[in-house]
Amino acid sequence: MIVKTDSDREGMRAAGKVVKAALDAAERFIKAGVTTLEIDAVVEETIRSMGATPSSKGFHGYPNASCISVNDVVVHGIPSLQVVKDGDIVSVDITALLNGYQSDAARTFAVGNVSEQDAALIAAAKAAFFAGMEYAKAGGHVGDISYAVQLYTELHGYGVVRALTGHGIGHKMHEPPEVPNFGKRGTGAPLRSGLCIAVEPMITAGSWRVYCERDGWTVRTSDKSKAAHYENTVIITDGEPEILTL
Ligand code: MF3
Ligand code: CO
Ligand code: CO
Repeated sequence: MIVKTDSDREGMRAAGKVVKAALDAAERFIKAGVTTLEIDAVVEETIRSMGATPSSKGFHGYPNASCISVNDVVVHGIPSLQVVKDGDIVSVDITALLNGYQSDAARTFAVGNVSEQDAALIAAAKAAFFAGMEYAKAGGHVGDISYAVQLYTELHGYGVVRALTGHGIGHKMHEPPEVPNFGKRGTGAPLRSGLCIAVEPMITAGSWRVYCERDGWTVRTSDKSKAAHYENTVIITDGEPEILTL
């Protein structure tokens, strides 16, 4: 959506706070020994306690309130009885709907002591997002963000996933335009003041190639390298972007 009124802006901000609170609750809860279903339950309780609903539940038949993706799972991991272990990296992706406004964000969390390489991978996903933010400004194009994310990621030796992209967001979880994590400057949709987008680098320690499992959801790296995901919902302005899920 393109935010035009104060009530739209306030609605997007409020939804963003719900998603941020649910991510924070997941982060506090995650430790070695918990199952991904237990993490999902914490996410769902937090969302509902704030009067919001988990948008992913029932979305194209998706069963849960969050996507929880461990190690070489890039995105859309389905919560299960899988127990997270010391040294795992766990991506949690949450979309919530509050008063008709959607917000979407993801983080990758370290469980206990992770390797230096895995900690660096997690940090690089976040840094790639902020590299994109340098170009997230009215007057530019979506491709400016895509280019910056790709450049940062590849310069640091990581793979940038191509099969999935960021997206517009507003009254629906996924709206135009697509926001790829690779591309060319000056291409793609124009960035207009008020445009709401979810920017979400998905990066790997190896190849950018991924495949989807037979369950129709779980996306894994093809070479079994680990992956990290960092996503926020953002409003484009004439100046700094307003990041709603920090
Ligand atoms: N939150 C995801 C995204 O970043 C989409 C989740 S798909 C669902 O776009 F099926 F789990 F909802
Ligand atoms: Co998401
Ligand atoms: Co998204």
